Amino acid sequence: MKASKRSYDLQASPIRKLVPYANEAKKRGIKIYHLNIGQPDIETPKVFMEAVKKADVEVLAYADSNGWEPLRESISKYYKRINLPYEVEDIIITNGGSEALQWAFLLTCDPGEEILVPEPFYTNYRGFAAPYDVVIKPITTKPDDGFVLPGREVLESLITDKTRAIALSNPGNPTGVVYSKEQVRMLSDIARDHNLFIVADEVYREFCYDGKEATSFGSMTDILDRVIIVDSVSKRFSACGARIGSLASKNRDIMTAALKLGQARLCVPTLEMIGAKALYDLDPDYFTPIRERYEARRNIMIDALQKMDGVLCERPGGAFYAIAKLPVDNAEKFAIWLLTDFQVDSKSVMVAPVENFYQTPGMGMDEVRLAYVLNTDDLAEAMRILEIALKAYPGRT
Ligand SMILES: Cc1ncc(COP(=O)(O)O)c(C=O)c1O
Repeated sequence: MKASKRSYDLQASPIRKLVPYANEAKKRGIKIYHLNIGQPDIETPKVFMEAVKKADVEVLAYADSNGWEPLRESISKYYKRINLPYEVEDIIITNGGSEALQWAFLLTCDPGEEILVPEPFYTNYRGFAAPYDVVIKPITTKPDDGFVLPGREVLESLITDKTRAIALSNPGNPTGVVYSKEQVRMLSDIARDHNLFIVADEVYREFCYDGKEATSFGSMTDILDRVIIVDSVSKRFSACGARIGSLASKNRDIMTAALKLGQARLCVPTLEMIGAKALYDLDPDYFTPIRERYEARRNIMIDALQKMDGVLCERPGGAFYAIAKLPVDNAEKFAIWLLTDFQVDSKSVMVAPVENFYQTPGMGMDEVRLAYVLNTDDLAEAMRILEIALKAYPGRT
């Protein structure tokens, strides 16, 4: 008995597909430094569990399909603190930012219609688009120039009569790019002039370094009817396992249809929403030391990479990822070799090959994504190991 034809085309996550190799290495007693996945090691604020423990719940009932209202109120207050005009009725709670993105793709595109996305992009976008037959059309950006967006003319040349939206993560996963206010404005103008939606994935909003700030599409007041903001507690509050995200929009048709999707899956877990409210109620100062920790980690990792022979890596301004171009024949082969054939003092590193973060075939073959989500000592050790590995790798170019 065969599954549906389309089920065979679904993509395995390139971030997770090397996990069996890592598990085998661990069984052999090798310590693996995980640079492959954006799982922060920052403690989840205690208020999350305290709120859950305090919850006086006799029956763990279904919640409203658009989410627990006190959480929606707290998210609305959070938005107002950062000058984004989203009211409670503009916000629906989702199962992570992932569900909000899936919905945003479904709500903006009919089958066969297109979303423009700067590549390399968060590879799960492909997994969100494919089930709905939404076509991702890449806007190619390159490591050599720090992944800057092309100019307006190039962007407009990619628009067809099937294009319905532009999606981008800002700050970016996997590039770490923080798009400038001018770039956000340019994309907003293009959206307005070509009648497109903007799917603004801003789950890393607080993680900007060197004094930079991320400009939210929610601050582009003339196009708010076209903007869908995706958010999440996963990275913001280091609460990936809570699976609480949100979709926000001023567009009533989008919100009405989003609620129908919400009703079809009934609701988001009740206790996690209680914990998430406590997170959104935290003082905004919470982010300052966290940001400093990430910035210090970024500097350790990038300083080390820039000293390695043959490695190209621009210093990214946000999120907690960087893409490094390596002197290797094939980044996936290298990533597997690190787990199967290599060790220093019974230690190795795991990296994410970037090929599948690009839509254009053949791009990113010698690039890896590295997440700086380890403490500074571990990160320095991981860099030492990577440097030795690059020298020892038989497929070095
Ligand atoms: C850019 C981006 N968007 C969305 C998500 C989805 O996160 P979650 O579903 O945990 O909220 C991630 C997770 O890594 C991400 O990197």
